[in-house]
Order: sequence, then C-alpha cells, then structure tokens
Amino acid sequence: MSWLLVAAVLAGFALGPSAGTDHIVGANHGWNPNINYSLWSGNQTFYVGDLISFRYQKGTHNVFEVNETGYDNCTMAGVAGNWTSGKDFIPLPAARRYYFVCGNGFCLQGMKVAITVHPLPHNATSKGSSSHADTGAQEEAAAAALGTSSAAWLAMLAVAAAAAVAAFC
Ligand SMILES: *[C@@H]1O[C@H](CO)[C@@H](O)[C@H](O)[C@H]1NC(C)=O
Ligand SMILES: *[C@@H]1O[C@H](CO)[C@@H](O)[C@H](O)[C@H]1NC(C)=O
Ligand SMILES: *[C@@H]1O[C@H](CO)[C@@H](O)[C@H](O)[C@H]1NC(C)=O
Ligand SMILES: *[C@@H]1O[C@H](CO)[C@@H](O)[C@H](O)[C@H]1NC(C)=O
Ligand SMILES: *[C@@H]1O[C@H](CO)[C@@H](O)[C@H](O)[C@H]1NC(C)=O
Ligand SMILES: *[C@@H]1O[C@H](CO)[C@@H](O)[C@H](O)[C@H]1NC(C)=O
Repeated sequence: MSWLLVAAVLAGFALGPSAGTDHIVGANHGWNPNINYSLWSGNQTFYVGDLISFRYQKGTHNVFEVNETGYDNCTMAGVAGNWTSGKDFIPLPAARRYYFVCGNGFCLQGMKVAITVHPLPHNATSKGSSSHADTGAQEEAAAAALGTSSAAWLAMLAVAAAAAVAAFC
C-alpha cells in the first residue's frame, strides 16, 4: 500500500510540467517523409513552456509554422516562422494549436505535424486533486530557490514521498 502511494506521488512529480519537455518530432525517426506524425503527436502531451524540436538533414528539409489552412492543404498559408538548421528547437509559449510543415514539397509526403499545447496544470483550479499540483508548485519554487542540483531535487522528492506516506498511513 505504502509503495503504491510512493509510486503515485513520484509519478505525480515526474509528470509535472516543470521540466519544459523537449518533444523530438518523430522520435528516432526524425523529420522525414512517409511518417505518420499524427500517430507521434497523439502520444505526446504538450504544455506551455515545452519545446518541439525537429531533426533532419540540413538543406534537404526545413520547418515552417503555418496556420490550419496551410497545414490542411500543404501551403504556406498563415506562415509564422521558418527554421532551417537541421536541429531546430522551437519554443511553445502559448496554449493553442500549432501547425508545422516542411516547406519544400515534402509536406505532401506526410511532413506535417499539428499539436495542441495545454496550459500548465498548476493553473487548472477545477481539477479534483489539486493538492498534488499545489505541493508540486511549492517544491518547484523551493528547488528553484536552491538552484536545483538534481541530487537536491531527488532528495526533496524522497522527503516529500516519505511525508506523503506518513500522512496517509
Ligand atoms: C495516420 O494514422 C491515423 C490513425 O491510424 C489515420 O487516421 C490517419 O489517416 C493517418 N494519416 C496518414 C497521412 O496516413
Ligand atoms: C503510441 O505509441 C505506440 C508505440 O510506441 C503506438 O503503438 C500507439 O499506437 C501510439 N498511440 C497513439 C495514440 O498514437
Ligand atoms: C484547403 O484549400 C481549399 C482549396 O483552396 C479550401 O477550399 C479549403 O478551405 C482549404 N482548407 C482549409 C482548412 O481552409
Ligand atoms: C491562414 O492564413 C491565410 C493567409 O493569411 C488566411 O487566408 C486563412 O484564413 C488563415 N486560416 C486560418 C484557419 O486562420
Ligand atoms: C524565414 O524567416 C526569416 C526570419 O527568421 C525571414 O526573414 C524570411 O523571410 C522567412 N522566409 C520565408 C520564406 O518565410
Ligand atoms: C496562471 O495563473 C496566474 C495567476 O493566478 C496568471 O497570472 C497566469 O497568467 C496564469 N497562467 C496561465 C498559463 O494561464
């Protein structure tokens, strides 16, 4: 029972949005033709402050942010930015839909990806179990104040988990 609690608490922290996750498009397949990026994006949860990154052969492909029309039709409609380095890290500062396509014709061969970026759950006041999120926010603030060495972070997790177990047992 107590181990389940520890696991639940740790999972709660681990899933928290504090890290600013880097979502690598296509994972180890990268940004290439003939990959179904809807399957990839369906397995990701994006939060404000995360990054999306594109890995591809520089000069062969590129990345354009477009709007929904551009995404649906593989055009440059509503173009909002372009990246060409071959290893592009794109910040996701807003909770909205984002649409990216390859701008050199390969969009028609599947090189397009649409994602939904969610607000940070800390602000989701209507969630039933807000206590985990609140605790996470406090830990986060404390860790930030300390300068967050990962050892300190792990130690804090352990203390928090122990406290949670003590509280529940
Ligand atoms: C990608 O996969 C989804 C789910 O299987 C499917 O609905 C969709 O049509 C596929 N997209 C392409 C471009 O094949
Ligand atoms: C998530 O990825 C797994 C393989 O890693 C795949 O089997 C599964 O269909 C994906 N789920 C969605 C919702 O795309
Ligand atoms: C895609 O292009 C067609 C033809 O230009 C247009 O009618 C349609 O509205 C476009 N798709 C979207 C989602 O706007
Ligand atoms: C995308 O941008 C184009 C060009 O600015 C515009 O005509 C179109 O209405 C936009 N589509 C959406 C869904 O906002
Ligand atoms: C690509 O972005 C740069 C700025 O980063 C801009 O000057 C250029 O016009 C853009 N190119 C296209 C084709 O939108
Ligand atoms: C979160 O809430 C604070 C105040 O409660 C607000 O200032 C901030 O804009 C909110 N952030 C988001 C992403 O909604």
